[in-house]
Amino acid sequence: MSTSYKDLGLVNTKEMFAKAVEGGYAVPAYNFNNLEQLQAIVQACVESKSPVILQVSSGARKYANANLLRNMAKGAVEFAKELGCEIPIALHLDHGDTFELCKDCIDSGFSSVMIDGSHHSFEDNIALTKKVVEYAHAHGVTVEGELGVLAGVEDDVVAEKSHYTKPEEVIEFVTKTGCDSLAISIGTSHGANKFTPEQCTRNEKGVLIPPPLRFDILEEIEQKLPGFPIVLHGSSSVPQEDVDTINKFGGALKDSVGIPEEQLRKAAKSAVCKINIDSDGRLAMTAAIRKVFVEKPGEFDPRKYLGPARDALKELYKHKNENVLGSAGKA
Ligand code: G3H
Ligand code: 13P
Ligand code: ZN
Repeated sequence: MSTSYKDLGLVNTKEMFAKAVEGGYAVPAYNFNNLEQLQAIVQACVESKSPVILQVSSGARKYANANLLRNMAKGAVEFAKELGCEIPIALHLDHGDTFELCKDCIDSGFSSVMIDGSHHSFEDNIALTKKVVEYAHAHGVTVEGELGVLAGVEDDVVAEKSHYTKPEEVIEFVTKTGCDSLAISIGTSHGANKFTPEQCTRNEKGVLIPPPLRFDILEEIEQKLPGFPIVLHGSSSVPQEDVDTINKFGGALKDSVGIPEEQLRKAAKSAVCKINIDSDGRLAMTAAIRKVFVEKPGEFDPRKYLGPARDALKELYKHKNENVLGSAGKA
């Protein structure tokens, strides 16, 4: 039996994106796969009155159980209401790689799906995306397509080199597929090591400074698709404080580098209306948990380390909404 996202109290991304493009901000898309992450996302977005996209990868579905995750999203809607603010919440499949996976998510209550055909040929990407769009739109579900390849880990797909989106392809892709938003590659990358040290410069403290995003490509795409919602993946900033805390308390992160918040702030004011953040949450959680483990070695109640991790996550998400994406107050 299939479940509509409407029965779960969720919304698709249509109106969210129309408002974001109009208002010059980006809606946060935060990945989750456990309770504390979801609690932190909902608390932060309610407190900052931000719309939010709850993002689930196929790996997350396998990890947490698809049925349980869907019901957690339903619970998130009720939790937000209980906290006193009815923010728009979408449940989105991150990096869907097959029609069958997208269909399964649509049938089980997702309000939005990404079909990532970026590793296929242009023609095959169009055909696959179009097939997903036809099924999704028949169920009121919105679809994100992708053109161009990000370096780093794309779910199970590891791309060693990025291929920037070709602006000359975007009109044909969007017209032929009917997708509702488009993820592009302008120099962002997945994970906490987005660039090699050789690709970066160093500041006076020896901290790695990444190469700037290709705003020239983004501008060309905007000119070709005025008002069309653009998505940025791989948009964690990899805060140095979290990396330092992790390493101080026994971690071994090396040459970690992210996308500077200043550049994301600029992107959010453009046609970019969805910004994906996962790694920054992983770092914040890990830093908080490592700290408790070292400072309180006698502690073995999971709430005593997952609680501080949840608090750190909530602060992170509020900061992103208020100071980077501009989504605070837009719910
Ligand atoms: O882009 C990938 C996301 O960060 C999800 O990662 O496949 O490890 O859940 P995951
Ligand atoms: P980060 O690894 O930069 O957080 O990117 C997450 C992402 O793009 C999820 O699709
Ligand atoms: Zn991604």
